[in-house]
Amino acid sequence: MSLKESIDLTKLPQHVAIRMDGNGRWAKERGKNRLFGHTNGVKAVRETAEGCAELGVRYLTLYAFSTENWNRPILEVTGLMDLLLKTIMAEVKTLQKNNIRLRTIGNIDAMPGNTARELRVAMEQTEGNTRMDLILALNYSGKADIVQAVRTIAQDVKDGKVNVGDIQEDLLNGHLYTAGIPDPELMIRTSGEQRISNFLLWQLAYSEFYFTEKFWPDFDKEELYNAILIYQARERRFGKTTEQIKGQ
Ligand code: FPP
Repeated sequence: MSLKESIDLTKLPQHVAIRMDGNGRWAKERGKNRLFGHTNGVKAVRETAEGCAELGVRYLTLYAFSTENWNRPILEVTGLMDLLLKTIMAEVKTLQKNNIRLRTIGNIDAMPGNTARELRVAMEQTEGNTRMDLILALNYSGKADIVQAVRTIAQDVKDGKVNVGDIQEDLLNGHLYTAGIPDPELMIRTSGEQRISNFLLWQLAYSEFYFTEKFWPDFDKEELYNAILIYQARERRFGKTTEQIKGQ
């Protein structure tokens, strides 16, 4: 049986989040510059999005640019922005054809004007699509997301709209960039690094983690299927005991 056929479609993760990593090292191994790695990373993005949509995963979140990534060499940053712009413009038709909605989390207002504009156009065009949400984390920081949510709630308390006692998990959830999106059951990170790196800090509280040595440009559908199979073999206890879980 192939890896794909071994997947239990009744127990798919609804939401898969991926910390794509290793584009630079992949390029270095080939004697090329970092942008060559990012360009090849786009192929893996396409393959992964296709793989998730074919299986029936409802939400796919990709960490494409962190707030810390602005500190990279200027040529890499402008190259990444350019690649993002070109990729969005080239792929919007495919998203439409496949009923995939493009969304972003993070502060895209602070991104270059043409990139932000094109992203907004693509998001508007695909707004009604229902098969899968492809969520790009752009200029995103998990800590900054929590801070902006807390700030909004604090203002609401000050304005008398919210009581301190009403501040519960659901209220905070509703003020995060991911409001309305279920937490990822599975988080994948490539390139052998085993860190969260400021990705979805709140939302990953009970996620299963899958780490692979593969660099992002080498990530493919087989690797995706393997990650999902490993996820399906895990016992998710949410603080309970094995006996309690089995008895449910
Ligand atoms: C991590 O590898 C990769 C990134 C920070 C950028 C990811 C961007 C793309 C795959 C291209 C555009 C994306 C979309 C969604 C259209 P790294 O540069 O940190 O690699 P290294 O750790 O080997 O240096």
